[in-house]
Amino acid sequence: MQLFLDTANTEHIRHASRLGLISGVTTNPSLVSKEGKVDYKALVKEICTVVGGPVSTEVLSQDAEGMIAEAREIATWAENIAVKIPSTLAGLEATSVLSKEGIKVNMTLCFSLNQAVLAAAAGAAFVSPFVGRLDDIGEDGMQLVVDIVEYLRYYDIPTLVIAASIRNTSHCLSASRAGAHIATVPYKVLLQMIEHPLTDSGVRRFAEDWNKVMGNAGIFS
Ligand code: E4P
Repeated sequence: MQLFLDTANTEHIRHASRLGLISGVTTNPSLVSKEGKVDYKALVKEICTVVGGPVSTEVLSQDAEGMIAEAREIATWAENIAVKIPSTLAGLEATSVLSKEGIKVNMTLCFSLNQAVLAAAAGAAFVSPFVGRLDDIGEDGMQLVVDIVEYLRYYDIPTLVIAASIRNTSHCLSASRAGAHIATVPYKVLLQMIEHPLTDSGVRRFAEDWNKVMGNAGIFS
């Protein structure tokens, strides 16, 4: 499973990129707003230089015509842009047009298998089921990821599933078990994925055992 970083924070993106962990980034208007009043285009262009893989950048219009115009403009900002379009009727119309033009669309705010079926039919390169937000209303968000992955595999459809609205490391685990192609994770969760108390105690024990016998000698001394 590939990992994308779900943020518009360039410091966090640079760090995750330095660690060699992320293959892409997803942003949305809420995440961009968290960074204060920014120049959206400049911010997205900067992110696109840091990360080689797709950088999902969302449209703001809610009608097909507006979405198409915005998406065409956004797609010129960098080679590795994917335009995020909401899973609405207008969004489907825009996605059908844009995907035929070779613009990669990430159909976002996906909350049902039916929405994913339509996103794939419209030619979306990515579909983003929102796991955490479904959990928030008492539904099983990860089951939707399972269902979409199974559907796309069964019919051999090339649309990639991005498990989104990831809130914790259990979500990452379940997304990888479900066969999601990608999980887009918040920075905090990405860093938590490496943590395990047995790794920490194991590292401490190895150092203690070595020091007991070798003192402060390093490997080469
Ligand atoms: C995905 O592309 C979205 O940006 C994101 O995962 C939404 O997550 P949230 O439900 O935590 O806001």
